[in-house]
Amino acid sequence: MLIRPSLDLPSSGASHWFLVFMAVVFLVGSGWSCPFRCKCLLQEKVVLCNSRNLTAVPARIPPDSEFLDLSQNVLRTLHQGMFSRLQALKELDLSSNIISNIEQGAFNGLQKIMTLRLAGNKLKMVADGVFTGLPNLSTLDLSENKILIFLDHSFKDLFSLGNLDIRDNPLVLISSQAFRGLQNLRQLALQKCNFTSLPTEALSHLHHLAKLHLKVLHLRVLHNYSFRKLHQLKILEINQWPFLTTLEPHSLSGLNLTSLYIIKCSLRDVPYKAIKHLAHLRFLDLSYNPISMIRGRKLLDLSRLQEFHLTGGQLTTIQANAFEGLIHFRLLNVSANNLQTLEERVFHSVGNLEVLRLDKNPLACDCRLLWIIKRRQRLNFESQLPICATSSEEGEKLFHKFSSALPHHFTCRKSKIENKTLQKVIVNEGEQANLTCNSDGDPPPRISWVNPQNITLDSTRKGRTTVLSDGTLKIQYALPEDSGLYRCVASNVAGNDSMVASLHVFVPWFNQSLVWNDSSLRNKTGISSLFFINTSIWLGILVIGIVPFLCSVLVCFLFIFLCSKGRGNVTHQVIEAEPRSSRGYKAILSKRRTAPRKPR
Ligand SMILES: *[C@@H]1O[C@H](CO)[C@@H](O)[C@H](O)[C@H]1NC(C)=O
Ligand SMILES: *[C@@H]1O[C@H](CO)[C@@H](O)[C@H](O)[C@H]1NC(C)=O
Ligand SMILES: *[C@@H]1O[C@H](CO)[C@@H](O)[C@H](O)[C@H]1NC(C)=O
Ligand SMILES: *[C@@H]1O[C@H](CO)[C@@H](O)[C@H](O)[C@H]1NC(C)=O
Ligand SMILES: *[C@@H]1O[C@H](CO)[C@@H](O)[C@H](O)[C@H]1NC(C)=O
Ligand SMILES: *[C@@H]1O[C@H](CO)[C@@H](O)[C@H](O)[C@H]1NC(C)=O
Repeated sequence: MLIRPSLDLPSSGASHWFLVFMAVVFLVGSGWSCPFRCKCLLQEKVVLCNSRNLTAVPARIPPDSEFLDLSQNVLRTLHQGMFSRLQALKELDLSSNIISNIEQGAFNGLQKIMTLRLAGNKLKMVADGVFTGLPNLSTLDLSENKILIFLDHSFKDLFSLGNLDIRDNPLVLISSQAFRGLQNLRQLALQKCNFTSLPTEALSHLHHLAKLHLKVLHLRVLHNYSFRKLHQLKILEINQWPFLTTLEPHSLSGLNLTSLYIIKCSLRDVPYKAIKHLAHLRFLDLSYNPISMIRGRKLLDLSRLQEFHLTGGQLTTIQANAFEGLIHFRLLNVSANNLQTLEERVFHSVGNLEVLRLDKNPLACDCRLLWIIKRRQRLNFESQLPICATSSEEGEKLFHKFSSALPHHFTCRKSKIENKTLQKVIVNEGEQANLTCNSDGDPPPRISWVNPQNITLDSTRKGRTTVLSDGTLKIQYALPEDSGLYRCVASNVAGNDSMVASLHVFVPWFNQSLVWNDSSLRNKTGISSLFFINTSIWLGILVIGIVPFLCSVLVCFLFIFLCSKGRGNVTHQVIEAEPRSSRGYKAILSKRRTAPRKPR
């Protein structure tokens, strides 16, 4: 108030110089002077001494200053009682100096200080008690220092501290009691720290924490119960953890968040289990994670969810009913993914949907997107209208801007199977069987096969039986029990078509006696080794069998030969000996009758 006249001095007259003199005398007398090289806004009680190459705090700073800017100088040490004269100070900016040492009591007397900035210095540690006696301090910025460790009670007595910034320190440890007493801390940021695990214990003392930002950490797993006793936490940001692949099922247990960001990590799936209990969650951002699918009916419990963001991911599918149960859902941001479509049935109801970001996706213009065309007046695309491409009948790409698109551009063609004459496939056991199913439709139909056991097989299935991308059912190493009727079903949003094919697996006669039902033999190596055994057995049988066979044939021939040689004589003898032999027989008989008596 007294300064005004001196600033508004008329430009001439000796009385003016007298006034100036008086003002200066008054200001010096009352301690009001602006230090050499600084700039003072006396009325605002602001002293700006930034970027002046100062190596020490200038003398004669007006003691009723409320804001002192000493940033971007070359201060090295803060001595005890250095600021004790400046008892009115509310904000002190010491950032971007080379401060490596803060003596105990350096901030003595700063009873009113609310903001203290020490960012961008060379602090290695914070000695116990450095910040004691600052009952009004509400913001403390210690970011971009070289602090490795916070010991127990580093921040004791900072009852009013609401915002602590310790980002960009190569912290390896925050001792379990370090944050004890920070009963008003609302916001905490940890960034570029070298933790091997989260300082769960230290964080558990921050009972009033509302926002926690955890950026650029190198953790791979967020373990069960990582956040304990943080009952007031509303906003959790996990950002740029390039190795984070896993959130254990209970990692977020105990939290009652309204906003959750897990962005720029390496999650491959939405962490459904970990977020399931967050019944008050309104905002979920999973952008820049390699997530390819949002599954159906998995977010049911997040009944208050309003916004879902997953931009810059690898989404190819948002399954039907993905957002079922989300009756307040109003914003979907899936810009820059690989989505070909977004069906109306993914939403609980599109009635509440206000904002839709679907741009930068390879969309297919067909009836699945018709609902967007119909609602485009009511939807906010944030002036990023989706663009889709369809192949025309001639095969060229047609691009439709949604603004100019007409409903007749968005049509579907029912699935149709091209050749429906019964396909009969016969293969030998152990061979590969292919049943083809050519279909057409727009969008291209999904093919599934129903096997003779009534089990549906589709392209998600791995194993001996697979459905190829062109719809062919491939059965490797066909087995007799694979025989039967197979039904191919082609389906798209516009309708289904089906066709039947028959498979007969032919069993060579020599294999029929072998036991095929042994399931351990139904794998590749099993089958091939069995076949190997079979061939060797048969080779063995052939090699071993041929020798006795030839021998017996030889013996037979020899026998026949011998027989045939002796045949003539025998007949002669028989003829000639006929009378003799009958007589001889009688003689033998008579001899036999008499013979037993002989010994007696
Ligand atoms: C912290 O981690 C970074 C990157 O992993 C590394 O370059 C740096 O040397 C580490 N610092 C300390 C103090 O361990
Ligand atoms: C985390 O909790 C889940 C569910 O209780 C449990 O299956 C899993 O083993 C836990 N993980 C660890 C590392 O204890
Ligand atoms: C969770 O937070 C909401 C407000 O976001 C509050 O209404 C609700 O009572 C809290 N629930 C629990 C169990 O603390
Ligand atoms: C949707 O995502 C894009 C790309 O990340 C972003 O620029 C835009 O702000 C987001 N929209 C909303 C409403 O968050
Ligand atoms: C197509 O088949 C599926 C099951 O495979 C069925 O749910 C759907 O209703 C069918 N659609 C039409 C148009 O027949
Ligand atoms: C596959 O067959 C081999 C050889 O008979 C056997 O060692 C293996 O355990 C079988 N594997 C399965 C999954 O049945």
